[in-house]
Amino acid sequence: MKRVFSGVQPTGNIHIGNYLGALRQFVELQDENECIYCIVDLHSITVPQDPKELRKHILDVAALYMAIGIDPKKSTIFVQSDVSGHAELSWILTCNSYTGELSRMTQFKDKSKGRESAPAGLFTYPILMAADILLYDTDIVPVGNDQKQHIELCRDIAIRVNNTVKKNTFVVPDGRFLKSGARIMALDDPTSKMSKSAENEHSRISLLDADNKIKKSIMRATTDSDGEIRFDIENKPGVSNLLSIYSAFSGRGIDDIVAQFDGCGYGDFKKELVAITQEALAPIRKNFDEIRESEELIKVLKDGAEKANTIAEKTMKRVKNNFGLGY
Ligand code: TYM
Repeated sequence: MKRVFSGVQPTGNIHIGNYLGALRQFVELQDENECIYCIVDLHSITVPQDPKELRKHILDVAALYMAIGIDPKKSTIFVQSDVSGHAELSWILTCNSYTGELSRMTQFKDKSKGRESAPAGLFTYPILMAADILLYDTDIVPVGNDQKQHIELCRDIAIRVNNTVKKNTFVVPDGRFLKSGARIMALDDPTSKMSKSAENEHSRISLLDADNKIKKSIMRATTDSDGEIRFDIENKPGVSNLLSIYSAFSGRGIDDIVAQFDGCGYGDFKKELVAITQEALAPIRKNFDEIRESEELIKVLKDGAEKANTIAEKTMKRVKNNFGLGY
């Protein structure tokens, strides 16, 4: 059995990009692997958070994990800050990372914008992510394409420590990226990725959006003026993005969808996409409301933290021993 690890930041507005790129893989993988799914609250404080909101968002993500079909009987669900090994291993990895490689991370460059006052946590963020993964001897990391560079860095650090400190200190993980859905773009600007924090709420569809919001966001999504439904990311990024979403939700190939809408207008295509999206998200919304209010949620997180801690402690013992730390 392979071990799977992944995480989502509890920053609100979890959207269909998160779902189609990463979360639906979480569900897919849980039957045949040992899966550990984390709510990475320590990552979210790289930018200021309101403590009350943060606590709420942590529980929201936990409930969403279960609402999309992650079964706590099969998978471990827990909150990152409940397992101290993440922060501890992160320091050890920090001492085995280069400022040069961290400076090349596009997410850091985008978010820091060269400011002197950029939080140092934004810079070391990928090291904490590497610690998350390596702490559990992870084989597979299901994520969206935007995390490719971070996974590559995690592999580099693991290989470096194995070569310079001790062989087999870390398992070297592989990223898992989907063919369709790995990079869902913003509906109002299909040249930038769909994000939780964009100001325009119609740039994204959140997993808990009501039917009328889903309809509004899709019907006003940016397309182009040539009126032809075909997949061409360079010249038709808006229509191509909508086709990707259609394909990911329906499980049908892009060519098949393009053939179905041959000769149709964008309006007809968008209406069908609205229906498919509403149908996919309705059960998630319903499950979420039930789970979020249940007492089971806290128990799942408590049990999950215990299980995660057991694995993490074993890894930390090995790592500290290999580094000659402690006595
Ligand atoms: P986060 O919280 O930004 O996003 C969660 C997951 O959603 C994917 N994703 C997308 N996929 C397709 N299209 C999009 N527009 C889109 N936006 C986001 C992300 O790739 C991610 O898989 N650093 C991570 C969280 C993390 C993590 C980890 C992941 C921390 N430690 C260890 C895996 C393993 C992040 O910020 O994800």
